Amino acid sequence: MRTHYCGQVTETLIEQTVQVAGWVHRRRDHGGVIFIDLRDREGVVQIVVNPENAELAKAEKLRSECVLSIRGKVIARSPETVNPNMNTGKIEIVAQSLDVLSMAEPIPFQLDEKNVGEETRLKYRYIDLRRNEMQKNLKLRYTVTKAMRAYLDANGFMDMETPILTKSTPEGARDYLVPSRTHPNKFFALPQSPQLFKQLLMMSGFDRYYQITRCFRDEDLRADRQPEFTQLDMETSFMDQEQVMAMMEGLAKHIFKEAIGYEFDYDFPHMTYAEAVQKYGIDRPDLRIDMTLVDVADLLQEIDFKVFAAPARDPKGRVVALRVPQGGRLSRKEIDEYTKFVSIYGAKGLAYIKVNDLSAGLDGLQSPIVKFFPDQAMEILARVGAQDGDIVFFGADSAKVVNDSMGALRCKIGEDMGMIQERFKPVWVVDFPMFEADAEAARMVAVHHPFTQPKASTEEILSHHAPEQMLARAYDLVINGLEVGGGSVRIHDTKMQAAVFKLLGIDAEAAQEKFGFLLDALKYGCPPHAGMAFGLDRLIMILGDIPSIRDVIAFPKTQSAACPLTEAPGYVEDAQLQELALRFRKPQLSATKE
Ligand code: AMO
Ligand code: AMP
Repeated sequence: MRTHYCGQVTETLIEQTVQVAGWVHRRRDHGGVIFIDLRDREGVVQIVVNPENAELAKAEKLRSECVLSIRGKVIARSPETVNPNMNTGKIEIVAQSLDVLSMAEPIPFQLDEKNVGEETRLKYRYIDLRRNEMQKNLKLRYTVTKAMRAYLDANGFMDMETPILTKSTPEGARDYLVPSRTHPNKFFALPQSPQLFKQLLMMSGFDRYYQITRCFRDEDLRADRQPEFTQLDMETSFMDQEQVMAMMEGLAKHIFKEAIGYEFDYDFPHMTYAEAVQKYGIDRPDLRIDMTLVDVADLLQEIDFKVFAAPARDPKGRVVALRVPQGGRLSRKEIDEYTKFVSIYGAKGLAYIKVNDLSAGLDGLQSPIVKFFPDQAMEILARVGAQDGDIVFFGADSAKVVNDSMGALRCKIGEDMGMIQERFKPVWVVDFPMFEADAEAARMVAVHHPFTQPKASTEEILSHHAPEQMLARAYDLVINGLEVGGGSVRIHDTKMQAAVFKLLGIDAEAAQEKFGFLLDALKYGCPPHAGMAFGLDRLIMILGDIPSIRDVIAFPKTQSAACPLTEAPGYVEDAQLQELALRFRKPQLSATKE
């Protein structure tokens, strides 16, 4: 059916006869001569069907997206019709024979149509995926996984599979459950990650494992989250934290070079979690934006302005200043918009000082709040390094509200004011807290996962003293403010694992029921081990500068975790439910059917 891909027919083939096959991208009728842009995976080539050609009648009936096979002679285009932007722009193929392999009904949207609704795009995904942009994204994805495999193979990692029907693996999200037919009333859980299996593979002696695998998490979706997503998951034995991080940094650099030709000629910086939160208000800082939050609470505890003084005195409060270089030009309206923006994160206002002329002291400032702390204002401005023409914003509230709102404001202003110059800014975030309080459940939860090694002894864990202050041997790779990957050194000692479960409120019986197999396995010779997982989808988003995670996955789910193409999830037959020993409580299945 074909001798060449459409996109590969170039001037080297002039005077030769070729056969190409693909989709009608466009058809133009030029007074008897018909031009067809024929498209396949590799590109588009121009076909000419001349009036005297016996195939003309067929060509006249063609619609966009019909599938053809065409044999013809490659000729040079006349100079004025050469298209330098196309691989195939110097030639065209004069059709000799034309076979219609498949007719196409009018398509629901044109491939070059902008603003097609997401539901429609996903419902007709096989058409959406024909678009050049989507072809490019998915090719990028393939280039990346190929580069991952090459690097990991070269470093002695083995690709191994782990079960999909399994037991709950706690990664902090809700499980997807699958009822068991053979064990009535029991359920499998789809893995949130292969965490426990990869640890067991280390205990089994495989030393270095990797897998590019699907993970399932039933959580609220965002622009960079999917209910099923792909991880490059890896684990190593007998390597310490620094060695694993170096190995994975090497992998990240290899991927950037192979996939998009970008080279990092420096070691990725390391930053502690505490520093990240202090300077950027978030544990995944976007370092492309050169602005930081500066604490000023110590200067404002005694002032009369309660809005600032109360959080400044509260150990759980925070007061920060954010200096925006040359931000003095922001209009009243823009400042109002930023005030509205921070209110999304719970901030009750957004105070500011415009610095018109530092040399004039207080008279050179423009601000609704300087009057409340005239004695401290100049010191604050000196601390943040303010210069003439700047604006300094203030956030005062609980530490959480300040971090969330001012951290987000920092990024928003950075983008709005065009401060993002560098393409990629990676950073390793280390020294995460091991535990955090789960407000709803009134208990402690693991920040990474409960298999992470704390920087504390078993005795300290068991004495349960200030668990929020314990650090973990965990590390995240953050690029441009996106968490690309996370990992940790694992607990390889039964007593420590049991102690951590205990601190998390999982008593011995529950631990045995949920993770008995792991506690057992730890007893029979377990190497020190550590690992990490990259979020493949997010990595592709960064590499390709693609804002939506759905645009890097061939068949993604919608924001409400459904698939408009297959209409999954769907109802099942009553007989299937019976086999599974399941019965709906109200509303009845039949009543809920549309
Ligand atoms: P973690 O939960 O940090 O670690 O996941 C690793 C990486 O997977 C990506 N990711 C997601 N991508 C898209 N949609 C989601 N819903 C989603 N959730 C996570 C992120 C994240 O950094 N077992 C551990 C790894 C380890 O310790 O080795 C784990 O799963 O990029
Ligand atoms: P008010 O006294 O409420 O009019 O506030 C004076 C200024 O402080 C205004 O510019 C408010 O936007 C700002 N402001 C109020 N609450 C806060 C807060 N929690 N953090 C930062 N600025 C605030």
